[in-house]
Amino acid sequence: MLPLLGLLGLLGLLGLAAPATASYAFYVGKNLTESGHVLLGGTGEEVSSHWLQLFPAKDHLANATITVGVTQDASYPATAREGVEIIGDLIKKHGFATYGGNPHLIADKDEGWVVWEFAGGETLWAAERLGPDVVRVSYPGYIEEFPVDFADSRDHMGSENLVDFAVAQGWWDPDGDEPFHVFKAYGVQGDSYHARTGGFKYMSQAALENATLAMVPVTEKDFMKRVRDPRICDDQSGYGQVIRVFEPGDPDLYLIWNAATGSVAAPFVPWYLGVEHVPPEFGQHRYLTTGASSTFLKTDYQLQEASVFAGRVFKRVLYYMCSAPKRFLPLVTDMFISFEDESAAAVTTWVDTAAKMLLATGDRDAARKMLTFFSRTRAYKSLEIGKTLTDALDGYAKLSGAWQIPKDDLINEMGSNETVNCLTGINPDEPADQQ
Ligand SMILES: *[C@@H]1O[C@H](CO)[C@@H](O)[C@H](O)[C@H]1NC(C)=O
Ligand SMILES: *[C@@H]1O[C@H](CO)[C@@H](O)[C@H](O)[C@H]1NC(C)=O
Ligand SMILES: *[C@@H]1O[C@H](CO)[C@@H](O)[C@H](O)[C@H]1NC(C)=O
Ligand SMILES: *[C@@H]1O[C@H](CO)[C@@H](O)[C@H](O)[C@H]1NC(C)=O
Repeated sequence: MLPLLGLLGLLGLLGLAAPATASYAFYVGKNLTESGHVLLGGTGEEVSSHWLQLFPAKDHLANATITVGVTQDASYPATAREGVEIIGDLIKKHGFATYGGNPHLIADKDEGWVVWEFAGGETLWAAERLGPDVVRVSYPGYIEEFPVDFADSRDHMGSENLVDFAVAQGWWDPDGDEPFHVFKAYGVQGDSYHARTGGFKYMSQAALENATLAMVPVTEKDFMKRVRDPRICDDQSGYGQVIRVFEPGDPDLYLIWNAATGSVAAPFVPWYLGVEHVPPEFGQHRYLTTGASSTFLKTDYQLQEASVFAGRVFKRVLYYMCSAPKRFLPLVTDMFISFEDESAAAVTTWVDTAAKMLLATGDRDAARKMLTFFSRTRAYKSLEIGKTLTDALDGYAKLSGAWQIPKDDLINEMGSNETVNCLTGINPDEPADQQ
């Protein structure tokens, strides 16, 4: 059985869901990266908990409705284009339920696609291809000018009613001077809303795209820096991920860099798809999990819950670090980058090679055990760094007199006030590396 590293939140391969507010998805076309491979990254903006979970690959009966996967009669999409076609097909057949529309970013080794599904039960959707020379940042996903005769285009897809519906609603005038524009017809309307420059957080999508373009040829390391930029990565970021999309020869060798919470406060850990076990510390815990405030723990989860939760450890790093960001942010960031450099050096100097050699001898079992050993070792090392940091920062805050007792009775931020971030006292207009 092929284990699949299924991450709640590792939706990058399949698309990034946009929850309550939005989530960042980053795409860098393969002509713009150092390795010549597509880079895909993201943060998930969700209050809820995130954890790692392995789902062994299995076959499913045709018309199965609970899980999605490969059957004997179906072929799994090999490409992002087929992924878009499947989404469009499913919407056509079954409709689409949503809390307000949803954009996804899908990528394969050659190209990406932004797929935007619209709320309202009209089965409306549009999709745009992202080629090898494109950087795209979604927050949320956007699509601008769009050909009316998109059925003839290799670069666009959409529901048959996409243009007609906009015309019928008076959202686009086919006789006017303006070309058909998906955001203008279907996006959030209002003077302050624009497809790319809406000014979300401290950086718009356009500014993030420019900052990414300034890094061309983009390395995985550059890309991690972009994803963890404190101007966009804060308490709202539930996780961080960076994936180099290519064909590694064997699916077990696919590498997913995942941060246990927003990567401004958590290092990226290298998880191979061939990993067989995730340490309990990175598995599900009751911190910010649905129903946890009104239920008791299942005995089945007693020991797992007894273990330290990595997501919580790095949230603590965030809260300590952002209490004095000028002092702590550069320090913590340096530690994480050094940790990631160590992991990356191991990956390129011996882990990939050793796994390939074991696979070449036909010993998949040993290859998986080796990959599991490597990823677990790095995960535990990251946790050790997290614990050391929280202890040190706790001590510092208390001894230095910086400790603050809350003034308010209410612990939850219920309105639109600022949430925890590392920009206090920092000029958000300056790139993070010049702070
Ligand atoms: C992008 O790369 C492809 C080959 O992968 C090449 O054919 C194409 O010309 C490149 N485009 C640019 C603008 O460099
Ligand atoms: C699956 O559903 C379709 C109709 O949606 C039906 O034609 C087909 O026979 C079903 N297949 C199986 C194996 O039940
Ligand atoms: C991004 O770069 C383009 C081209 O240099 C420029 O026209 C645009 O103003 C920039 N946008 C932002 C938001 O920085
Ligand atoms: C924002 O915070 C202030 C003080 O902390 C509080 O008085 C105000 O009600 C809050 N606003 C919202 C919308 O929660």
